[in-house]
Amino acid sequence: MSRHIHVIGIGAGDPDYLTVQAIQALNDTQVFFAMDKGEAKSDLVALRRQICARFIREPGYRFVELPDPKRSTDLGFGGDYCEAVSDWHAARARVWAAAIAAELGPDGVGAFLAWGDPSLYDSTLRILDAIKAEAAELDFTFDVIPGITAVQALTARHRVPLNEVGEPVLITTGRKLRAHGLHGSAVVMLDAECSFQVCPPDTQIWWGAYLGTADELLVAGAVGEVGARIAAVRAEARARHGWIMDTYLLRPAD
Ligand SMILES: C[S@@+](CC[C@H](N)C(=O)[O-])C[C@H]1O[C@@H](n2cnc3c(N)ncnc32)[C@H](O)[C@@H]1O
Repeated sequence: MSRHIHVIGIGAGDPDYLTVQAIQALNDTQVFFAMDKGEAKSDLVALRRQICARFIREPGYRFVELPDPKRSTDLGFGGDYCEAVSDWHAARARVWAAAIAAELGPDGVGAFLAWGDPSLYDSTLRILDAIKAEAAELDFTFDVIPGITAVQALTARHRVPLNEVGEPVLITTGRKLRAHGLHGSAVVMLDAECSFQVCPPDTQIWWGAYLGTADELLVAGAVGEVGARIAAVRAEARARHGWIMDTYLLRPAD
């Protein structure tokens, strides 16, 4: 007998992205642990509750909100970024361990709903591993249910292949793109700065924001032709919603 945690990828926006496996895991769960933060919080928490309401057949489940520990820096990119992230993960691990112990009975089933897929720019699995390493007395198992990532939502909505024939694709951040430039196809995530502007003007871009939602925005073309429009559309949408999530695929000209 042991507590069990499902880490469920819920797709990157559209509730229809949920897989059959995810729906089965939702229906197996008694306690959902939620730990959203920031400006997107209320919209994303609402979407998670909507997903539960829509797909769970017998609504005996509960939501438990986990307080998010303060980051030791704002995780701006000065200072020791990795150390700040690792301190923050350790603090989260302590909060999560206490919540799992308090909220789940000895054979209880809990879940974390991970946006998109839990393996992509998401710390849930790292934090659960940290709990296993540091709170060994807390007996629990966990499994991972894959989800549709923002990358797949982006390529599907633009109806474009991710890679060129036989070629690799890099998944990176705006910060790394600015530091290293573009070498082959790349998907850029977590970019608050329209970093595609460092690319040559004939670079192709497929950009998407709020993918899979009613507010979805899509723009594609050469950076030199559509880059300024993307920056303007992005700034306007961010101001209107108070937050934005956008992703783009870049491909150097032949
Ligand atoms: C912390 S990462 C999480 C990624 C997520 N685990 C996934 O599988 O897509 C958040 C970033 O993913 C991208 N993203 C997530 N959902 C998105 C959406 N619906 N539309 C556009 N970009 C999205 C954005 O680049 C955002 O900054």
